[in-house]
Amino acid sequence: MTTQNPGLFIAFEGGDGAGKSTQTAELAGALEARGFKVLRTREPGGTPIGEKLRSLVLDHGHGHIDAHTEALIFAASRAAHASQVIRPALEQGQIVLTDRYIDSSVAYQGAGRDLGTDAVREINEWATSGLQPDLTVLLDVDPAVGRRRRTAGDAAEDRLESEADEFHARIRAAFLDLAAARPEKYLVLPAHLPVEAISARILERVASLLALSGSVPA
Ligand code: TYD
Repeated sequence: MTTQNPGLFIAFEGGDGAGKSTQTAELAGALEARGFKVLRTREPGGTPIGEKLRSLVLDHGHGHIDAHTEALIFAASRAAHASQVIRPALEQGQIVLTDRYIDSSVAYQGAGRDLGTDAVREINEWATSGLQPDLTVLLDVDPAVGRRRRTAGDAAEDRLESEADEFHARIRAAFLDLAAARPEKYLVLPAHLPVEAISARILERVASLLALSGSVPA
C-alpha cells in the first residue's frame, strides 16, 4: 500500500497522556477482526537493544543526559526498530502500528530540547533510511490534561514526562506544525473526545487508505 512497501505503516503521535496506547490497541483489534495481519509496536523500544536504550534514556538515575546524547539514543533505538521490525513486517504486507516514531524526536528533542527540528529530522531520516509512515494519527492533548491523566493513580513520571508544562507546550505546538505542513499524511484528533469517537474516526481513515490500495477489509 505504501509507496515504498506492500504493507501499511501508521504512526501514533502526541503528548504524554494523549491516549496513544489505547487507540493503537483499539485499531489493532478492529483490523485483526477484519482479517488483517497487524504488528503493534512502540518507541523507544520494539527490539531487545531498543528496550535497553529505552530504560537508559527514560529511567531516572543515569545521571545527567545532555540533549544531543538523548536525541542520538532515541535515533539509535529507532534505527534498530525500523530495520529489524518495521521494514520486514511492511515487506510481508502487514499493517504496522507504532506508538511514536520520528515526529516524537522532532517534537521532544528538536522543539522541546531546542536542538532544532530540521537537524533532528535529518539524523532520523538517516537512521531509518527514509522510512516514513503512510499516515500519522496525532492525538492532540492539552499538557495540563495529559499530566493529570498520566499521574492518575500515582503513576511515576519518567525523565521526559516530569519536565515542566512549558516544555510540553512546545512539544504540542511542534506536533501541530508537523501536521499542518503535510495535512494529507495526518489525522489530527483532540484527545479529549470520547475513546469510541476517536477510534471510529481513525478506523474510517484507515479503511479509506486500505480501500484505495485495493485491500478491502474482509
Ligand atoms: P512513551 O513510551 O510514549 O511513554 P509511556 O509509555 O511511558 O507513556 O514515551 C516515553 C517518553 O519518551 C515520552 O515522554 C516521550 C519521549 N520520547 C522522546 O522524547 N523522543 C522520542 O523520539 C520518543 C520516541 C519518545
